[in-house]
Amino acid sequence: MQQFGVVGLAVMGKNLALNIRNHGFSVSGFSIDRPEVDALAKYEDEKLVPTYTWQEFVASLVKPRKILIMIKAGKPVDLTLAQLKPLLDAGDIIIDGGNSNFHDTNRRVKALASAGIHFIGMGVSGGEEGALNGPALMPGGDEAAFKQVEPILAAIAAKTPSGRPCVSYIGPEASGHYVKMVHNGIEYAIMQEVSEVYDLLRVAGKSNQEMSKIFANWYQGDLDAYLIEITSKVLAQPDDLSSGEVIDRILNVASYKGTGNWMLEDGVALGAPISVIAEAVIGRFMSKQTQRSGQAPQLTSDVPADFVRNLEKALNLAQAVAYAQGFQQLTLAANAYNWGLRYPAIAQNWEAGCIIRSGMLQEIETAYADQPKMGLLFEAPYFAQLMNTNLPALKQVIALAMSAGVPTPTLSATLNYLESIFNPKLPANMIQGQRDYFGAHTYLRNDREGTFHTEWYAEK
Ligand code: 6PG
Repeated sequence: MQQFGVVGLAVMGKNLALNIRNHGFSVSGFSIDRPEVDALAKYEDEKLVPTYTWQEFVASLVKPRKILIMIKAGKPVDLTLAQLKPLLDAGDIIIDGGNSNFHDTNRRVKALASAGIHFIGMGVSGGEEGALNGPALMPGGDEAAFKQVEPILAAIAAKTPSGRPCVSYIGPEASGHYVKMVHNGIEYAIMQEVSEVYDLLRVAGKSNQEMSKIFANWYQGDLDAYLIEITSKVLAQPDDLSSGEVIDRILNVASYKGTGNWMLEDGVALGAPISVIAEAVIGRFMSKQTQRSGQAPQLTSDVPADFVRNLEKALNLAQAVAYAQGFQQLTLAANAYNWGLRYPAIAQNWEAGCIIRSGMLQEIETAYADQPKMGLLFEAPYFAQLMNTNLPALKQVIALAMSAGVPTPTLSATLNYLESIFNPKLPANMIQGQRDYFGAHTYLRNDREGTFHTEWYAEK
């Protein structure tokens, strides 16, 4: 009998099954796609068993059964659960490791709980390589059920630089998938920020190979983030089909599967000011709508000597704002959904294995450990200092971008966010005045308690 089962053996499921086996646990694999099972069978030994029917798969597992499903989010998950449910017993545990929408996960938690089956919605990040060698795992659901699978998950997860597994329990219900959704929103934001910086570097005349070295240097410094590391590699990659680097041959239209969009949807529902993440999501829409003829931006003035250094500082600050907005939405969600999230544990979860990993997450972990009730990340001394030090660089970068006609939606949103969050004189009083004028919507005052309405049309 096997200790763990995996349903769905495309690259992520297969690699996770191998990772589990490589850590000494026995695992069964099943897929409705027979060639996927045949591919897993090539690795078969006493600890890795391919199975060919739902019944054979379920019967191969020790009770309570622990099953990870790694399939496309959406309807396939419901179809899989419909197959599994009649074959399982109370106390069995199903983990959904796909990028499921958190509303679906909440529904499934309830539906399976009625049969005594525990459903854990677990964010998995790190792509194929991470699945095999150490992903970041974000499990949410029943905590007692999580404890039963924790030894296996902790063994296969990525480890932080200090050796802690990236798999802390997130919270109840769909909170694990929610945290993965926020991870992906941050991922969209940092990717768009990097793209804008790349755009500015190339407008400033840097070649792909020069840019690759610049990003590689940044990765050795404060910007020690996976997305910076891979940007350097993407820029240096020669093209197989023609001369030069492949980056110049890739069509500039960005795809998406929608997890960033979901973050925005719920951000709107919660009133989360996640402007940088919103601009990143919209940036992908924009890339599909742009006319591909027209004038490319051009620098009209000399590039300042400190431009590359300022871009590094601007990007560092923009990355911090992407994280800050992610945590801001998590705070609102934790309150609205009563999840009691532990922010240091979430930051720790993201320190290794996942796509948004970076050294900055250790600072975020410390910041939330020091002040668990912190409202804004920039209240923490490290981030307040970062803002003060790097803001002039961000302003210089945006000024140059404006003069050259280079769009910087996320970098500009970063500046607007930072200039808004600590500004006691934002002009929303005017909005309230207008609302009260045309609709008698009332307003609060800054000099006395109560709700007020002005008779704007009253005869004087
Ligand atoms: C990860 C990634 C992963 C997936 C993205 C891609 O954490 O490993 O986030 O889940 O590659 O969701 O998303 P888009 O197709 O929407 O860019």
